[in-house]
Amino acid sequence: MGRLRKVISFGIVLVLATALLTGCNNRTQSRTSDKIKIGVTVYDQYDTFMSQLVQCFTDLVPDDVEVVVYNASQSQQTQNSQVKKMIEEGCDVLCVNLVDRTDPTAVIDAARKNDIPIVFFNRELVEGDIGRWDKLFYVGADAIESGVMEGELAAEKCRKDENVDRNGDGVIQYVVLEGEAGHQDAIVRTEQSVETLINKGIEVDKLGYAIANWNRAQAQTKVAQFIEDYGKSVELILSNNDDMALGAIDAYEAAQIDREDWPAIFGIDGTDVGLEAVRDDKMCGTVYNDKEGQALAMYRLSLILAKGGSIDELEDEYEVSGGKYVRLPYSKVTASNIYDYLAR
Ligand code: GAL
Repeated sequence: MGRLRKVISFGIVLVLATALLTGCNNRTQSRTSDKIKIGVTVYDQYDTFMSQLVQCFTDLVPDDVEVVVYNASQSQQTQNSQVKKMIEEGCDVLCVNLVDRTDPTAVIDAARKNDIPIVFFNRELVEGDIGRWDKLFYVGADAIESGVMEGELAAEKCRKDENVDRNGDGVIQYVVLEGEAGHQDAIVRTEQSVETLINKGIEVDKLGYAIANWNRAQAQTKVAQFIEDYGKSVELILSNNDDMALGAIDAYEAAQIDREDWPAIFGIDGTDVGLEAVRDDKMCGTVYNDKEGQALAMYRLSLILAKGGSIDELEDEYEVSGGKYVRLPYSKVTASNIYDYLAR
């Protein structure tokens, strides 16, 4: 499906959801048909990876299933109200991308009171919370795997390309661009990518780090500052996601630094724009966060739960851990396999 059509159809779903916001306030009254109804709330629709993941999800939904999508706009309070609305609107199952992964109480309590199962996705709640009710599940990926793969990609690049160590001191001067403080993917990716690099025998020297909240513009500002502070001496940038890696590229382009003087830049996600940057040799590699696979697992699980079934029904196709978690594998993307991913 063309990107424009994707954006438009996501827009339509959101408009539909907004219209429904003014709907009735009683669960049985507001039910308009016998269709299964899935309610989705996403922490921020302008997050590149999340908007693509939600788009994959809505693309899967056939005409005889209804889906409403709400944007929580980074407010847990807004999301709590949306959950109540979706329950009143007659949703049979909820897919929740928590704003604050440490604060799911209101969401869980509302769903439990009305016996509506929840598939949390992408922003992982803590074990104590998911254990609070037997109708709470999580679909996502293993953050450790993504950090390890990013570290492996960077280690291979450092070993094979002597130009990475531009000053020839045998040590790689690097910076890390981190996602939101407290997000499982930010914490673990930062830790694991650097640890893997070191375990692979690369000698490193950390020049700095910056929290840029998954955001391209914020990353550009932070990297512009690194350029001011360190000039051309940054040799490697490990970014927790593609959008921040792209912000770093924007900063080098804005500073009119020649391509051969850029650091090696790595991201995670394999968003459309991220993959294009790998194809165009601006980013050295990324780690594919399988949005298609996650969307499909969320959709399958939602349907099963809406019909009163059990997560066990997924066991033939997925590894289900602890009766609650489905995690899709990551994979590495470089110039050598980029066209396989661009074709997805
Ligand atoms: C991560 C993803 C980031 C951002 C974040 C939002 O998995 O890599 O780009 O979308 O989720 O929770």
